[in-house]
Amino acid sequence: MKKLHIIGTGGLAKELISYIESEKPKRYKIIGCWSDKNFNNEKYGKFYSGTIQSFKRHYKSNEAIIIAIANNEARKRLISDFETIKPLYETYIHQSCIISDFSKIGIGCILAPRVIICADAIVQDFVFMNTECVVGHDSLIESFSCLFPKVEICGDCHIEECCEFGINSIVLPGIRLKKSSKLDAMSVLRKNYDKSALYIGNPAKPVKLFDT
Ligand SMILES: CC(C)(COP(=O)(O)OP(=O)(O)OC[C@H]1O[C@@H](n2cnc3c(N)ncnc32)[C@H](O)[C@@H]1OP(=O)(O)O)[C@@H](O)C(=O)NCCC(=O)NCCS
Repeated sequence: MKKLHIIGTGGLAKELISYIESEKPKRYKIIGCWSDKNFNNEKYGKFYSGTIQSFKRHYKSNEAIIIAIANNEARKRLISDFETIKPLYETYIHQSCIISDFSKIGIGCILAPRVIICADAIVQDFVFMNTECVVGHDSLIESFSCLFPKVEICGDCHIEECCEFGINSIVLPGIRLKKSSKLDAMSVLRKNYDKSALYIGNPAKPVKLFDT
């Protein structure tokens, strides 16, 4: 079994622990769970090990880690904070996912149950996909994005880094989305816009621009 540290004690960390602990056969032994605050629920208290600073002191180079924090900027900040210890980033793929042999998935990602990654899709590093997300054929998801449940990125899309997708949102085929953009829950992005923004509605339109 692989020894694993989890960074985070919020909702995503709890979900990840429950996936890992219910696996049969088990692939991981959770040896630490680190954050500056403890879980909000004593059922998870036994996993809590200490602060981020103490993680950096305790980490040994052969141990795997996953940053289980959904907020893209927070994930990114921690990764740069950990540069000095050079951790071994693990990608967690739930056993119910359907992953094409012809796709590619980077390091530090979390793919929750029933995610589907189609042929020739590329998912770069530190991407979080919640339950039942789909990435269509030939699409590229750059690093640090977060897809909440049931997001569908159709084929031939290009999602630049650090984007965020609300539950049940859809990106239609061939769309390119600028970095740090957000797509609101249930929205359908139907055309290209050359700006980083929060897009809302069907058809989704920019309602707030981001300075990137
Ligand atoms: C994608 C999403 C997370 C972005 O939300 P967010 O991070 O709060 O968005 P931002 O803070 O960047 O922007 C919100 C701003 O847009 C504005 N806005 C929202 N809807 C708007 C509209 N229809 N027209 C104009 N402005 C609008 C808000 O007033 C707010 O303005 P402010 O920044 O001046 O306060 C959100 O839209 C969403 O989909 N939430 C659902 C998340 C989800 O699926 N959770 C499931 C977890 S399992």
